[in-house]
Amino acid sequence: MKTRIAIFISGRGSNMMALVEAAKAPDFPAECVVVVSNDPAAAGLEWATSQGIEALAVDHRPFGKDREAHERAIDTELRARGVEFICLAGYMRILTPWLVTQWEGRMINIHPSLLPKYKGLHTHERAIDAGDAEAGCSIHWVSAGVDEGALIAQARVPILEGDTPDTLAARVLTEEHRLYPAAVRDILTKM
Ligand code: GRF
Repeated sequence: MKTRIAIFISGRGSNMMALVEAAKAPDFPAECVVVVSNDPAAAGLEWATSQGIEALAVDHRPFGKDREAHERAIDTELRARGVEFICLAGYMRILTPWLVTQWEGRMINIHPSLLPKYKGLHTHERAIDAGDAEAGCSIHWVSAGVDEGALIAQARVPILEGDTPDTLAARVLTEEHRLYPAAVRDILTKM
């Protein structure tokens, strides 16, 4: 039986696309049942629909400052669809402890740095400014602290002379698209 996963996005969703493409393999242990976005304009939603996957926008704005109420609304939708596992893929909302607790051990994230370095935003710029020789991406379990859960997998790339945050981001992104499906395959095969 394939694990029923939800992928959370807020924007273009290229990591979501990599996961959906990987899940087309008959032996992939997961099936993507819904792509969720807090932003109804997220470009990835249309792509998901084009793949025959349900694209669900749960706009955070009507909930104002009540982040937990927004998450409760999402959680209700996930449970209605029998979702068993969540992959955050460029989901730009900080989660409340409530959602994290609901999905503890069943929610992972991809972050574009070699954690524990550079939690949060502007990771590539910070790595270049620090004079680092390498950068990369990390897959980790989601825990209460932002980008702080236990590491699952990492991929490294060199930082090259003349790199800008954009050129480095592109090099890291290529690795993200390889690493995320590989990590999901690994975790769910063992679960
Ligand atoms: C990726 O770099 C991911 O690691 C980070 O946000 C970016 C999202 O890109 N969390 P995409 O929406 O998957 O293309």
